[in-house]
Amino acid sequence: MSKLLIKGGRPLCGEVEIKAAKNAVLPILAATLLTEDRCEILNVPRITDVTNMMRIMRGLGSRVALEGEVLSVDNRDATGCSVPTDLAKELRSSFFLLGPMLAKTKRAAVAYPGGCDIGVRPIDIHLKGLCEMGVAIEESHGIIYCDGTRLHGADLVLDFPSVGATENLMMAAVLAKGKTRITGAAKEPEIVDLQDFLVSMGAKVAGAGGDRIEIEGVTKLHGSVYTPIPDRIVAGTLLIAAAACGGDVTVSRVCPDHLDALLFKLNKSSCVPRVNGDKITLKCDSRPRHFDRLETQPYPGFPTDLQSQMMVMMCVSEGTSMIVENIFETRYRIVRELTKMGARITVRDRTAVIRGVRSLEGASVVAGDLRGGAALVIAGLGAEGYTTVDDVCHIERGYDRIESTFALLGGEIERIG
Ligand code: EPZ
Repeated sequence: MSKLLIKGGRPLCGEVEIKAAKNAVLPILAATLLTEDRCEILNVPRITDVTNMMRIMRGLGSRVALEGEVLSVDNRDATGCSVPTDLAKELRSSFFLLGPMLAKTKRAAVAYPGGCDIGVRPIDIHLKGLCEMGVAIEESHGIIYCDGTRLHGADLVLDFPSVGATENLMMAAVLAKGKTRITGAAKEPEIVDLQDFLVSMGAKVAGAGGDRIEIEGVTKLHGSVYTPIPDRIVAGTLLIAAAACGGDVTVSRVCPDHLDALLFKLNKSSCVPRVNGDKITLKCDSRPRHFDRLETQPYPGFPTDLQSQMMVMMCVSEGTSMIVENIFETRYRIVRELTKMGARITVRDRTAVIRGVRSLEGASVVAGDLRGGAALVIAGLGAEGYTTVDDVCHIERGYDRIESTFALLGGEIERIG
């Protein structure tokens, strides 16, 4: 298991072009199952969640290849309808295949995705919606068996704006007979991007990004060549790194609107981000100011996927900050690791109180999940002395060679072992 060796204390300076969003590419890749025509997805990052999803798609009979940044998919022979348990457990997003498999083959069997290091991550909202669309569902020995021979449009109301459930139900509905309305849908930019991709294939979908998505089932969809939206979480991670470590960082090829909640927060700290077209620059040459309160919420609220990174920034800010994590119940595994670096954080239920210190000290830490791992890299880059970050595999799920990105920005970081 390789690890990262970081020598902290240097400001970060430079510009990074952001690639397509992991959380847009994954559902869009699943949606290619809805056509037998060839599809191409452009500007795709080289991350393990994508390569693992490709493996699962190949298991269904897909011909899928990533050449450079172009992901080409040919699903002519993709008649499979079951996702192997080991692969499903490795990649929660494999659960997004349920909707398109049902739409295409009318049958599907997927292992219960189970929880991960940030929470239980149930799928009740997915299953309730599919049931209301006429899908017969049985669970046995951790496998969910679905019979979609009577799949039809329905009026759905989600109990929570689940991103994955919204995406699964959209993909089940586009080839189903009749109309589907999803009220209380998730509003994330990745939902709008999935709608745009489905429409580019000839689907009739409207309303994504708002409270209600309306879908009119069609009989067939055609191929598409599509560039997904840039990764707002990778962009936000780099901007927060500049605020926490000091420096002058520009992220380019981004959609600033997708980062409104982060920019609003950073505008209140000592380092004001500057937006210029598809670029955002953040200059920071002083210690960050603390935030009285940061609460994560569904979009357009503050994204849970940037919470750990903001925690690191608060660890070295002046004053005492508070974080409330409203989306996932155990997204604080990073606290134990940051405490090894001298952070002063107390956690009670979903609330973390962070008393800022002048600087963290380098230590040996272990990444526990994707975003927590990226946050530990930021902590090491800003700390005094050397830090090693172990279990880099978590970080590789969503960051394309994170060590090269930060080395390009002047960080002293290398992969060892
Ligand atoms: C997506 O996960 C993202 N993953 C997550 O990003 C992101 O944190 C999350 O949305 C929230 O924005 C991908 O898009 C691949 P949810 P998802 O369903 O779909 C509860 C990252 O780091 N819930 O919106 O799994 C659930 O327990 C990852 O890139 C139910 O109760 O998120 C959680 O508390 C991490 N029942 C909340 O909703 C359900 O059936 C949000 O989950 C489904 C969800």
